[in-house]
Parts: sequence; C-alpha cells; structure tokens
Amino acid sequence: MPRTLDPALRDALQERLRFYRDLGLIEFYRRPVDLTAIRETVQDESANPGATTSETPVATPVLDESANVKEPEMPPTQTNFFGEEPAIPVRNKAFPAPPQALNIIPPAERAAALQAIREDIGDCTRCALHQGRNKIVFGDGSPTARLMFVGEGPGADEDAQGLPFVGRAGQLLNNMIAAMGLKREEVYIANVVKCRPPGNRTPEPEEAHTCSPFLFRQIDVVRPQVIVALGATAATYLLGQRQPLAGLRGRVHAFRGSQLIVTYHPAFLLRDPRQKKEAWADLQIAMRELGLKAPSKG
Ligand code: URA
Repeated sequence: MPRTLDPALRDALQERLRFYRDLGLIEFYRRPVDLTAIRETVQDESANPGATTSETPVATPVLDESANVKEPEMPPTQTNFFGEEPAIPVRNKAFPAPPQALNIIPPAERAAALQAIREDIGDCTRCALHQGRNKIVFGDGSPTARLMFVGEGPGADEDAQGLPFVGRAGQLLNNMIAAMGLKREEVYIANVVKCRPPGNRTPEPEEAHTCSPFLFRQIDVVRPQVIVALGATAATYLLGQRQPLAGLRGRVHAFRGSQLIVTYHPAFLLRDPRQKKEAWADLQIAMRELGLKAPSKG
C-alpha cells in the first residue's frame, strides 16, 4: 500500500533540503553535475565560437583553464560564526588583467544586442522547462551595467511577470543593491535558466547546459566589471566547478573578462538571516572592486 507523507512534514523536509542545497553542501534530489560536459561546452565554444548554439556567434568564452590564466591563491574569508566582521582579503596586486573577450559591443549597441539574443531564444522549447512556464524570464536592467547579478532560475512571481527577482527574494536583492549605493536599474540581473523549474527545484544539468549559453552571451554583451553569483547553482554553472559555497566565497574569480564574486542566494538569506552578515562581506568585496562606498545612513 502506498504510504503518504503528512504534507506538513513533507514541507518541512523540503525546506531543510533547500537549506542544505543553498549552502552548497549537498544536493539530495538531483543527479551530480557533469563538469566534464560544462568544460567540453566551453572548449568547443573556444575552438568554434557559436558551435554549441545555432544562433549568431558570441565572443570567445574564457574560463580560467581554457585561457590558461591561473588565479593566484587568495586567502579564504575568515568565518564569522560568532558574529565577528569577516576579514576581507586584500586584493592581490599581481592578479592578472582580465583576458580580453572578442567582439566588444559598443555601449550604444548593447541594448539592441541583448534584444537580438532575446529574439534568438524566441518561444523556446529547447528543454523540458518550457512545458510548465508562463513567461520566459530573460533578464533585466542596464545593458551597460558594471555590476551583474546571476541567480538560479525564475520562481512563481518571476514566471508570472517575466522579470527576474521580483518576489520576496527579489525584495531582499533590491535591499542588497541599495545597501551598495546603487539603484536596481543600474545593474543587470539574469538567471542560469530562463524558465521556472517546477516546484522551484534546482535546474537539471541538461536544462542549465541548454540555457546557459544565452546567459554567457548576455554577459559578453553587457561586459560587467563584476558579476555576483547568487548561490550554488549560479556559482557552479558560471565557474564550471562544483564546490561548497564556503570554498568559493571571499575571493575574486576571473570569469569571461569579469571579476566574479560568489555569495549566498537571497532566498537562502530569507531562511537564515544570520548569514546576511556574510553576504554583506561578499558584497563589500564587489564594492571594493567597483570603487564604491556604502551610502551613509540617515
Ligand atoms: N530566484 C532566482 O534564482 N531567480 C529569480 O529570478 C528569482 C528567484
């Protein structure tokens, strides 16, 4: 006889799974990410730009390995479980200059270039996620932003409105952006996948591999100086390495000519507000790279 789970217990279990997933510690309910496939995609693209999509060629993607650029080891951020300010590592002066991507789009042409990507996506049916979506969530913000945030995938509110980060997590992201002294319209926001995964589950590797070339093209058009990866899924598919967030936070990664910083996903911060202090330390690294000062209070 099939056993049924008490809905309250099921919700509590799912909440706990999401908590561990957002910490990047463990993923109970999905197959492991095939990093070989990610690397192969990137290498194919380097050898033959545009080969992995049928759309117009994109700037040569650059991952650390394919560009043969080694990031210097930087000290990890000190943990502050006891509430101390985390030490922000001093940026290594020998940090290599970002590799130059091809096809730098002049700022005045970036809005049109993003629109062209949107048109390439069309009424997408490339992966199974299209079956449950209402709206494709392409991305939002300034085509010439110096700062870009990348999340995991749309939730219910985003799916309804066609805009990224407009639900509760989005409100927290807005507050994070404001704390950095910026307006939401000044940054660019996108996700690893553009259609809502059912029940807000983590995107499957096939879904992320199918969709992320469009994200990479958006990044190559906007050419933000700094990208903030929000959570483990964004960090995994951007960096092509799957590690607990603790191993990726607190330092600057080189990615496609941008500086990439990893922090917690706002949805995780809503569930565990104690980690906001850690996230603020990550955002301060981004601010330092951008030469921003936090606005004075009051
Ligand atoms: N969570 C995400 O990762 N992206 C969104 O757009 C909204 C919530």
